[in-house]
This record gives sequence, C-alpha cells and structure tokens, in this order.
Amino acid sequence: MEDLTFPYEVKSVDDELAKELMEHYTGEKTGFVRVGPKGYFFPQKYREQASDIYNLTIRNDDIFVVTYPRSGTTWTQELVWLLQNNLDFETAKNITLSTRFPFLEYSILIHPETLRTMQEQNRDSPENQEIIDALNFPSAARFSSTPSPRFMKTHLPLSLLPPSLLDKGKVIYVARDPRDAAVSHYHLCKLFTICGVPDDFKTFWNYFLRGLHGYSPILEHTKEAWAQRGHPNLLFLFYEELSEDLPSAVRKVAKFLRKTLTEDQVKSLCEHLNFNNFKKNASFDDGALVKLNFVKKGEAPFIRRGKVGGWRQYFDDEMMDQADRWITDNLFNTDLRYPSWDLPNVPSLNIQKLDETPARIDYYTPSDIVNTK
Ligand code: A3P
Repeated sequence: MEDLTFPYEVKSVDDELAKELMEHYTGEKTGFVRVGPKGYFFPQKYREQASDIYNLTIRNDDIFVVTYPRSGTTWTQELVWLLQNNLDFETAKNITLSTRFPFLEYSILIHPETLRTMQEQNRDSPENQEIIDALNFPSAARFSSTPSPRFMKTHLPLSLLPPSLLDKGKVIYVARDPRDAAVSHYHLCKLFTICGVPDDFKTFWNYFLRGLHGYSPILEHTKEAWAQRGHPNLLFLFYEELSEDLPSAVRKVAKFLRKTLTEDQVKSLCEHLNFNNFKKNASFDDGALVKLNFVKKGEAPFIRRGKVGGWRQYFDDEMMDQADRWITDNLFNTDLRYPSWDLPNVPSLNIQKLDETPARIDYYTPSDIVNTK
C-alpha cells in the first residue's frame, strides 16, 4: 500500500434527494456520495474503500480494464485475458471470468443490509456462504497478495485509481456511446436486485443525465481517459470499433500488449468473442448473483443484445434532443467524438468530426442546437 492522502472531498447526497433516489434504486438503503470536483456518484459504501483503492501499489505487469459500466468490459476482459494467457480457451471456459479477472470495487455495490439478507437466505449452504464472503471482501485488500500477473476490472474513473497506475501498469479503457450505455445499464439494474431501478426508462434517463447514477457522470469519466490516450500505457477503445471490426480491434489490443498473433489466432479469438458464442458461455454470467438468487426472472440477461444504436428504441424526440445538447455541451472543449454520434446541426458551433482538422472548437450556448432528428 502507498501512503497518499485521498485528495478528493466525498460529500453525502442531500437527504431529500437520496430518499427520492432510494425509492427507485432500492438496493441502496443508506444514501449516496458524490466525489471530487466532477461529482462522481457512488453508494455510501465507497467512502470505506476510497483511500485503500487510491493507495494500491501497482506493479509493472498489472493490467486494468477500465470502463464506465456496460461499455463492453466483459468482452474486453476476455480478450485481454486470452492474449495474456496464450489463448488458453480451455481454462477460460472452466474458470469464471470474475475469478480470472476480479472486479476491484464490487463490494461497494452490496449494501450491508443486502448482505445480511444474502447470508440469512443462504444459511444452510456453506458453498453460497463462501460466495457471499468473497463478494463482500474488498478486492483492494486481496490485491497485494495476488501473484503477478494481476488482472483487474474497474468502473472507477482514472482520477480515483492509484496515481501510479499509468506509469507502472497498463490500462485498456473502453468507451461506449452514452445513450447505449444508459439503456444497457437500465436493463442491468432491472436484472440485479442489488441495484433497483425506476420502472420507466425516461425517469432513469433523467437521473442519468444529472449524473445521479452509479459511476456517473459518464462523459467526465470518458474525457479523463481520452485525455490520456497518448500515454504509452493506455489504450483507448470504443465499443463501436469492436463491434464494427473485431479482427482489427483484436490486433490493436494484441499490439498494445506486445503480443504477436497469426491470422488463424485472430480468427479463433474472433470466433470465441463473437456475440452469439459469447452469449452462450457460462463463464461470463454473474454466476455469484445467479447462485444467490439475486437476479430477477424474466429480465434480459447480462450479455443482452450487443448492438450499436439500440438506444433509438428507447428515446422520444425530447430525449434525443436532450442527449444531443448534453453531449455537445460536454464535449465542446475536447476533440472526443463518439463514432456513433451524429453531430447535431449547430449553426454557430464549429465542432468537427475526429478525422477532420483542425480540432478548433468554439464555445456555444446550448440554445444554438437545432434538433435535426
Ligand atoms: P447491451 O446491453 O447493449 O447488449 P459490460 O461488460 O461493460 O457490462 O457491457 C455489457 C454490454 O456489452 C452489453 O450490451 C452486452 O450485451 C455487450 N456485449 C458483451 N459481450 C459482447 C460481445 N461479444 N459482442 C457484442 N456486445 C457484447
């Protein structure tokens, strides 16, 4: 462990708002916090682990997959693990991904009351008691005794991770169109009872826009990684590029990890990672929550639809307009452009596509945006 002071203020969300949110997000019973100048939003339990996570000692061969939730984390973890393990498909099938590639802050998502319910319901099953203990044990505490090479999944933004992460370890950051990430996260929260969610997507979307949702604000999260995309130890990927051309994405990740692949190996990786095959693979389900009966029957599964642009079925005109304004507003001072985001028609806004130069972006007022949908 390092000995750094955690540099951000962790503020509790105002009681009244927290109460309103907990009516929807029923997995949380105590309230929420917002962290630092960007106001990253977490359950109260984050407080207990913020400093330990920030102070993890990073080793030179650590590999982190960092994402905002529902951006293709699982897909990328499996690719990275296979590349680092000589394409050992057999072990990948037999050992769950969450064991091979642990989730750093998983335990902050499980409220103590939920934990007690889990324990009571599984009193007679020593096997499930073990699963519960593992879920509740902070990965940060286990991290220092894990032998190298270490793999870690996290949804925390870079600023809340150890400051030496990029100098010593390697990070693969995956970004996704925030509209698709929102829809996907909405479904995940419907599936997992440790979360809870508003009944209708529009209410969820309005909280999401205001950054009142786990790990939000998504655009700040992604901008932090985008700002580091030139760092030799960070690879920035879009879900949309994996989706459009998986072989190229596989080659890109292999190159980043300094692995050489034959074309046959690229092919077999793509076959394994192909959505339909991936969906059937039991090692990706969140087996722990399934075993503990903490998933809602009848909801879409964890590996759900795997499409780019599915958000269109969930957004009415007002929400599309809101999304355009919100994305434009937040990207005006960067050259980050989502491959699947059509620039809105903004007469006075000199905002350009990524592959166009120069990347000069003038400030604008949101009222300049004309909804072209
Ligand atoms: P959808 O809910 O839109 O289908 P994460 O792993 O970060 O939780 O991301 C989950 C999202 O990635 C889900 O999106 C899931 O279906 C999608 N996904 C997972 N594996 C995929 C694959 N092999 N191909 C395409 N999409 C995949």
